[in-house]
Amino acid sequence: MPDDTTVIESTVLTTGLSRKPEVGAGRDQPDTPETADPVFSLQDLSFHYGSYRALRNVTMDIWPREITALIGPSGCGKSTLLRCFNRMNDLIPGTRLEGRITFHGEDLYHPKVDPIEVRRRIGMVFQKPNPFPKSIYDNVAFGPKVNGFPRSELKDLVEESLQRAALWDEVKDKLKQNAFSLSGGQQQRLCIARAIAVKPSVILMDEPCSALDPIATIRIEELLSELKNTYTIIVVTHNMQQAARVSDRTAFMTAEVDDKGVRCGVLVEYDRTDRIFTTPRDKRTDDYITGRFG
Ligand SMILES: Nc1ncnc2c1ncn2[C@@H]1O[C@H](COP(=O)(O)OP(=O)(O)O)[C@@H](O)[C@H]1O
Ligand SMILES: [Mg+2]
Repeated sequence: MPDDTTVIESTVLTTGLSRKPEVGAGRDQPDTPETADPVFSLQDLSFHYGSYRALRNVTMDIWPREITALIGPSGCGKSTLLRCFNRMNDLIPGTRLEGRITFHGEDLYHPKVDPIEVRRRIGMVFQKPNPFPKSIYDNVAFGPKVNGFPRSELKDLVEESLQRAALWDEVKDKLKQNAFSLSGGQQQRLCIARAIAVKPSVILMDEPCSALDPIATIRIEELLSELKNTYTIIVVTHNMQQAARVSDRTAFMTAEVDDKGVRCGVLVEYDRTDRIFTTPRDKRTDDYITGRFG
């Protein structure tokens, strides 16, 4: 599959703003790859549900073709942060974002940016596999059809997407069967194939293995390691071993409690995964990864 990122960027997401890569120079960033510009750059991002502030002052860069893990105790804002990356939170009434997220240097929340196109380019896989009540084939073909993908090439695209999601060999003889006939792990790989079929450049995953058994989990983890050759992946996980196994970088978040007892999610530490798990700089990270908290 050709990487169509560049073409689409210039036609759809160009907002007329000058391209500023904002590589994080001078900031306290982990080992920024010198040859690459960040895919996302978050500056002082805060997020509110109505009057409740769920996230405060998150600043981080996400690097291409890496797996970034978001970890931290329940309620610290991991899912909220993940949904900021593809404007999924826009669908929740009364929400408000402050600060800035750029995607390849362009303001992701600029009024001229089409959130539907954003969600095509930045796909999402959820905690519980959620295939459509359709055949295996139609689950994968649905998005490309809606986007006007040529029908004559659809069959090849479905096969390619299922191949990439490491599911093809298991389903190639039963493409017309209902997706619900698959096991949980297969359904999750089908959801990954469905996400891939619309040719995103980023895949967001919110605890993609938490509803799966250990064997299905390992298969998804192996798949992630393959997919990162093509896609930038951000994965929320409450499983620290999983973060340590699969990710290149890890962001540890926690919920701070103010003097009125109100909790707010903050990014505590963001670094290469090996460093987060061996030599964290913040005591809160150390406490969490050694099991003293959370
Ligand atoms: N749709 C929503 N409306 C209001 N508050 C929400 C909503 N989703 C999450 N929250 C709140 O935001 C905070 C962070 O939640 P979430 O991002 O789901 O955390 P995590 O994924 O780390 O468990 C929690 O206090 C949660 O109750
Ligand atoms: Mg969550």
